[in-house]
Amino acid sequence: MTQQAQPYDSVIEAIGQTPVVELSRLTHGLDGRILAKLEYLNPGFSKKDRIARQIIEDAERDGLLAPGQTVVELTSGNTGTGLAIVCGVRGYPFVAVMSRGNSVERARMMSALGAEVVLVDQLPTSRPGQVSGGDVALVEREAERIVEERRAFRADQFRLEGNRRAHYLHTGPEFIAQAGGAIHAFCDFVGTGGSYAGCAAAFKEHDPSIQCYVVEPEKTAILAGKQVTDPNHRIQGGGYTMPHLAMLKAEHIDGYLQVTEREAIETARRLAREEGIFAGFSSGANVAAAMQLLRGPSRGRTVAVLINDSGLKYLSTDLWE
Ligand SMILES: Cc1ncc(COP(=O)(O)O)c(C=O)c1O
Repeated sequence: MTQQAQPYDSVIEAIGQTPVVELSRLTHGLDGRILAKLEYLNPGFSKKDRIARQIIEDAERDGLLAPGQTVVELTSGNTGTGLAIVCGVRGYPFVAVMSRGNSVERARMMSALGAEVVLVDQLPTSRPGQVSGGDVALVEREAERIVEERRAFRADQFRLEGNRRAHYLHTGPEFIAQAGGAIHAFCDFVGTGGSYAGCAAAFKEHDPSIQCYVVEPEKTAILAGKQVTDPNHRIQGGGYTMPHLAMLKAEHIDGYLQVTEREAIETARRLAREEGIFAGFSSGANVAAAMQLLRGPSRGRTVAVLINDSGLKYLSTDLWE
């Protein structure tokens, strides 16, 4: 990593340039390496700070965001936290629209950062802590209503190119520069698909032989073309049973991996205990999927993963029981 030469103008400049760590304790007994990029060390404790910055900077550049205009976004908490930081520093009021099914820490943090947080009730069939595609559809409707009412700018992470570009321009190239050698595979748990798409594009541009895998919860592996057995799962931030994601490009997908909730949870706990890396469910899912790869097609090779957000965001859940 480059040494900082001068104080930053704001915390926005502290976004990115996260370290990469080899998970050599977790891979003990496996043939191969897992390299993890610690995205929870961003100012908002998740990788989504990157897209918040990119989306707002793109909108400013393209004249889509007027000074002082309200910004609205649907969030599972992490994008909202990133936007709360970026909008707070740049002087845009920010409204985060989130399902009540996401953990309470996220709403508290966004409020603390100056955001207005609108919580949307889950479907009667949904369970707290398990946000389904149906729950996200309700949040989407409310976000659209608020955008209309306030004539706001919608920082739409499912559609705006800034989501993918943040990872294509920064996360992926940083990873390549920090890997200290070849990366052979990449796997990523998909919500909007922005992280996957941006990193996969950067990796394949660097070396077309890098194999990229979409990771989904076993119950909702809709992108892999499997039957959804139950739309509710605990791996917050993705697995929304959306069959089409605007961010994803078929030519960047070499395969699909599924992880169970149990695998994601147990791996997140092992990450904390054995590697000292305190992360959330979806990071556990990424590392569990990377371990599957080392037992299968990537045996003897190096797999790259993102550690998406901090375990502190899940203190109210059963992740750390
Ligand atoms: C904790 C967490 N993991 C994974 C994801 C999925 O990332 P992406 O939307 O880039 O696919 C998100 C997205 O909100 C998230 O918050």
